[in-house]
Amino acid sequence: MLTPRIHPDTIEDVKERADIYDVVSEKVVLKRRGKDFVGLCPFHEEKTPSFTVSPTKQMFYCFGCGAAGNSLKFIMDLEKRSFSEVVLELAKRYQIPVKTLEPEKRQELQRQISLREQLYEILAIATSFYQHALRQPEGLQALDYLKLKRQIKEDTIQYFQLGYAPQGWETLYDYLVEQKHFPAELVEQAGLIVPRKTGNGYYDRFRDRLMIPIQDSQGRVIGFGGRSLGDELPKYLNSPETELFDKGKTLFALDKAKNAISKQDLAIVVEGYFDAIALHRAGIENVVASLGTALSLNQVRQLVRYTESKQIILNFDADAAGNKAAERAIGEIEDLAYQGYINLRILNIPSGKDPDEFLIYNSAEDYQKLVLNSPSWIEWQIQRLLIGKSLETVAQSQQVSKVMVELLRKIDNGIQRTHYIQYCAELLSQGQSRLVPLFAKNLQTQVNKPYSDHEKQKVSSDLLTLNSERSLLEEAEVKLLRIYLHCPEYRLTIQDALEARDLQFSLAHHRFLWREITKIEEIAEKDLDSVDLILELQQVCLQENQPTKQFYHLFYLDEHTEIDIRRARLVIRSSVASIETVICQKRRDMALKLWQETDVGKEQNLAQKYYQQIDAETKWMWELKRIRDTQFDDLISVPLGGINFN
Ligand code: UTP
Ligand code: MN
Repeated sequence: MLTPRIHPDTIEDVKERADIYDVVSEKVVLKRRGKDFVGLCPFHEEKTPSFTVSPTKQMFYCFGCGAAGNSLKFIMDLEKRSFSEVVLELAKRYQIPVKTLEPEKRQELQRQISLREQLYEILAIATSFYQHALRQPEGLQALDYLKLKRQIKEDTIQYFQLGYAPQGWETLYDYLVEQKHFPAELVEQAGLIVPRKTGNGYYDRFRDRLMIPIQDSQGRVIGFGGRSLGDELPKYLNSPETELFDKGKTLFALDKAKNAISKQDLAIVVEGYFDAIALHRAGIENVVASLGTALSLNQVRQLVRYTESKQIILNFDADAAGNKAAERAIGEIEDLAYQGYINLRILNIPSGKDPDEFLIYNSAEDYQKLVLNSPSWIEWQIQRLLIGKSLETVAQSQQVSKVMVELLRKIDNGIQRTHYIQYCAELLSQGQSRLVPLFAKNLQTQVNKPYSDHEKQKVSSDLLTLNSERSLLEEAEVKLLRIYLHCPEYRLTIQDALEARDLQFSLAHHRFLWREITKIEEIAEKDLDSVDLILELQQVCLQENQPTKQFYHLFYLDEHTEIDIRRARLVIRSSVASIETVICQKRRDMALKLWQETDVGKEQNLAQKYYQQIDAETKWMWELKRIRDTQFDDLISVPLGGINFN
């Protein structure tokens, strides 16, 4: 990783100079559409343009794949280059003099980078420690469990670096802190030890468990799953989220699967660690596990980077929980799937087994057969509609076909839609082939029908309950203010971020505080470093008769709010996205209101225009949600809206 040493002034100059249209139009053919430009997205395959460049916002965004950012981000993503590289190259191109950061700031950046390096080191050493313990007398029971109960052979144990966490309360602690002299705080930050409630000392998080290292896509250990050897609960204890371990973004065994995924142009996602291990052992290596949570959009993004044609198969358990997980995963990614950006299939193993259990009595070839025959996710959903329904009664048949229509009308691709209409018609006709065209025609008509007033109402209530606006705002504004007050080094970042997106504090008491901050800063002018902003504000509150109590939680940190301070950069980014979400929501509600007032029959174009706007705002909110959900990211990444280093 390149150490960024570029002065924020230089970054600002470059950002100002590198016009989004200039930069993008070098790579993408752009056509004007109103204030904006559109073209075919360079980040994913598409036939109709959904990639938009906005000169007023100095942003690009793609409604298809969700790519978005400023001109720097565009080059970084397209050419896979680091932030600093891109800034330096553009500075050269536009002949902007390059200033570097003063040493203290450089040190701070260096410190953050080396924190991550140290955590990697600690986790690597812990992995060896657990591996070693598995080979000691104390680890015998765990080793037996692996070999006898789970039928796992020596080479697989080595390959997955499986280990054993001994029974004592402080064995790992003693090893890492007492013997190896790692600071206890760091070992805690790696997620391996937990501070005692009494306030002094730590104990090992994992005790008497089989240890499964979880690695990032480059093979570095970032966390662990620990399985109990008996019936103790929880069955699996996992590392907490840390600076390195982001569950929503991690896929177990991706490091070992990525080559096979590329080669076979297909990724299989299973639920459990042992499912992935069993499949790899059987020679099916294009397999990752989702860490037990529902598959998230972020995980899917990680995955599809390796498959050209974006083929994913979800193999979740066929029980109620597994089906629910599959449905949740579908919900997460259905927008991409409906538009054909992801080619999603669902594999359920007959008899409700998980892959690990299946492979005990079946061969890899048997599993491959299931893979080949797995239905597309739409087919899977349609089949599920029919479970427990008899199509013989008119009422049930009508009800099923109504739900089918809802599914079908979401499919963007015309050819696909026709295909599935045919498929549904065949199901509905129940073997009476002369009825198929009739059903097909009927479905076709329904699918093409515009939304009725009743359905409009439904969309509207969905949107309005989407989130509670005020609490989102409140939280985001509080976080920004808190970081502003406690971290002088991020003040410029926050100011820039708000300015770049043209955002303001909207809650009255926050606006008051922000106004006062601005005043204090103006008075202090150059001498800002010597001003204690919090102290000054407290005095202002007293003078203005403002209840200081209201601001206590901003002025003083506690253990929860300190975490935000430690992740300031990420918190700033997600808070800014939250504030923008609320604005976006307002715009969308407005479009929605107009849409509802429009007579679809008479003013079709207008209705369509409003609908498109609702759609666009929804997608943008979705992208903002992604940003809000991203808790960790590489240190060198340019957040939306051009937040930069300090
Ligand atoms: P399952 O309960 O389906 O178990 O959890 P499994 O993988 O078949 O486990 P074995 O075969 O009994 O060992 C699926 C995944 O959900 C997560 C784990 O990642 C697990 O592999 N999980 C499950 C947890 O994180 N915690 C739990 O307590 C249970
Ligand atoms: Mn299992």
